[in-house]
Amino acid sequence: MDTKTGKNAMRGKLVVGNWKMNGGLAANAALLGEIASGWTRPAGRELAVCVPSPYLVQAQAALSSTPIAWGAQDVSEHAAGAYTGEVSAGMLVEFGCRYAIVGHSERRANFCDSDGVVAAKAKAALLKGIVPIVCVGETLAEREAGTTEAVVLRQIDAVLDKVGQDASRMVVAYEPVWAIGTGRTATPVEAQAVHATLRVRLARSGAVNVPLLYGGSVKADNAQALFGMADIDGGLIGGASLKSTEFLAIAHA
Ligand code: PGA
Repeated sequence: MDTKTGKNAMRGKLVVGNWKMNGGLAANAALLGEIASGWTRPAGRELAVCVPSPYLVQAQAALSSTPIAWGAQDVSEHAAGAYTGEVSAGMLVEFGCRYAIVGHSERRANFCDSDGVVAAKAKAALLKGIVPIVCVGETLAEREAGTTEAVVLRQIDAVLDKVGQDASRMVVAYEPVWAIGTGRTATPVEAQAVHATLRVRLARSGAVNVPLLYGGSVKADNAQALFGMADIDGGLIGGASLKSTEFLAIAHA
């Protein structure tokens, strides 16, 4: 434990880019090349990008000889079969994915990913050795109603109940829905308060050292203040992960 920051030295720092549905072969090649050459890999820090599934093969080719990891933005809860449009964890393994985002608020809101589905997806990823990045977060209405804590605990409990002791192999991302893509970031103190709540809950499940990322309008100029908080172990970066200089500045913050 660092007595100045309250940070646990056991937990390194992880920054993950979430490209969402952006990119193309030419643009990706440039972005991946710039990230790979600009990443200095400071001690205890990890960098990863979660790309659209068709580009996993491209990410694998571009990054496999670098220290940068890659992953998917979703994964099916099912192993195989008649699930048109789905991509299984086993398939992601074949493309070298270390991570799969599950429960992003855009999937919860637009694709009916319920707490139960998110939990099943996390379990499916873990079964294949993929680290699920489990996203939780409240809407603006929920925050204003004072239910932030209840919402994020409901979301994380669904996953903890499903995965049991494998929870220690997950990553959790707190992403307040009102901060995603809006330019409105939670203050470091607001984010830390939710992270501390999540940390207590995770510790109760034996997952005390799970990396807890913050996501929602993280930029180069606010990353350092956020990442400096005791229970914020890095970030899940949307828009700013599409520009190499901005993303690298966040990763090095
Ligand atoms: P943003 O997105 O950084 O563009 O706000 C974060 C996310 O949705 O993961």
